[in-house]
This record gives sequence, structure tokens and C-alpha cells, in this order.
Amino acid sequence: MKFFIDTANLEEIGEAMDLGVLDGVTTNPSLMAKEGITGTENIRAHYQKICEIVEGDVSAEVISTDFQGIIKEGEELAALHEQIVVKVPMIRDGVKALRYFSDKGIRTNCTLVFSSGQALLAAKAGATYVSPFIGRLDDVSTEGVELIADIRQIYDNFLFDTQILAASIRHPMHIVECARIGADVATCPLKPILSLLNHPLTDIGLEKFLSDHRKADS
Ligand code: G3P
Repeated sequence: MKFFIDTANLEEIGEAMDLGVLDGVTTNPSLMAKEGITGTENIRAHYQKICEIVEGDVSAEVISTDFQGIIKEGEELAALHEQIVVKVPMIRDGVKALRYFSDKGIRTNCTLVFSSGQALLAAKAGATYVSPFIGRLDDVSTEGVELIADIRQIYDNFLFDTQILAASIRHPMHIVECARIGADVATCPLKPILSLLNHPLTDIGLEKFLSDHRKADS
């Protein structure tokens, strides 16, 4: 399973790269706003900076919601850098745009997916990635990871190439469950990735190894 980081924060992206486990980056308009990046030119310059830090795919989201607007914006974003993947919302004109981009060889990430029907439509339209938001489903008392399992089964039944990019991940067990079910990618903030490191028996074991070494050495 690939690890993407879900942030527009350059330091966090650098930290995940430094750990040696990062395969790509996803962003969205909220994450850009959180970093104080505003205005079309600044936002596009920021995407380019992200592409210079990472080697993998970088999702850049369109703001337009009509077909012509999505096409224009998506083509401009894709032209910024070869690593850019155009993020398109799961709406009617978005699905049409997914097909258009797919036919043009422009890679896409269909975002705001909350049902297996939406994921089926995204795959039929040729999306490169589909982003089911598991944390936001959990927030409304619905098992987010079950959606990942349903989509996995549907995509496997028909050998769809669309990759399942599990998004809205909130904690390390979301990552582990997604890996167990067979999501292709998990995108998450840095904290849940680093939380995968933690186990008290590792800390206790290391402390014992080091103290035994010190005793034997003295
Ligand atoms: O980038 C989309 C998704 O990962 C958002 O996560 O935590 O805002 O639900 P969250």
C-alpha cells in the first residue's frame, strides 16, 4: 500500500519524505487555506514547490463545479508539473470531466466519495484514483472502512484499474485496516503515520537492551 500525506504544509511533507516512506501528496482547498495560501498564482506556485519536494503524485483540486470550468482549470493544473493529478469532485459535471481527462491522458483523483455507487461511477468514467472519506463517514456513525471493502470487491469483480485512495484518515488503525482490506493508497496527516511507530514493548525492550549493554560494558 502506498502512503500519501494529506497536507499542504511543506515542513510536514519534508518530514515524511525524510522518513523514507512517502509515495505522494494530496491537498484540498481547506488544506491550502490552512497554510494561508490564497490566490490562483500563489496556489499554483505552492503546488510546484510540493512537486519539487516529493517524487510521487501530487493531487491538486479544481474549484470549478461546471464542466467547462473543470476542464479549463484541470488542464492548467496538469500543465504545471508531470506529477500533478487533477482532483475532481464527485458531481455530475465532475464525472463528465473524469471521462474527458481520461481520454486526454490526464490523471485524476475523484474526491468526496461516500458510497460504493459513487466509486463505481468514478471507475466507469476512468478515474485514476477514487477517494472515499472514511473518517467523515465514521463522524456520522457509519463504518468508513466497510466502504473501502465494498469498493475493493467491486473493483476486483470487474478488474477496474482505478486505485482506491483511502482519505480522511484520522488514526493509525484506519491505516492498518485499509492495508488489510487492500486499499491501494492511504492518505493521511503526518501524525497517524508516525503513530504506527509506537509500541510500549518496543520502548521497554530497547531500554532493557541498552541497560544490559551498559552493564556488560562497565
Ligand atoms: O483530502 C481529503 C480528506 O483526506 C480530508 O480529510 O480529515 O478533512 O475529513 P478530513
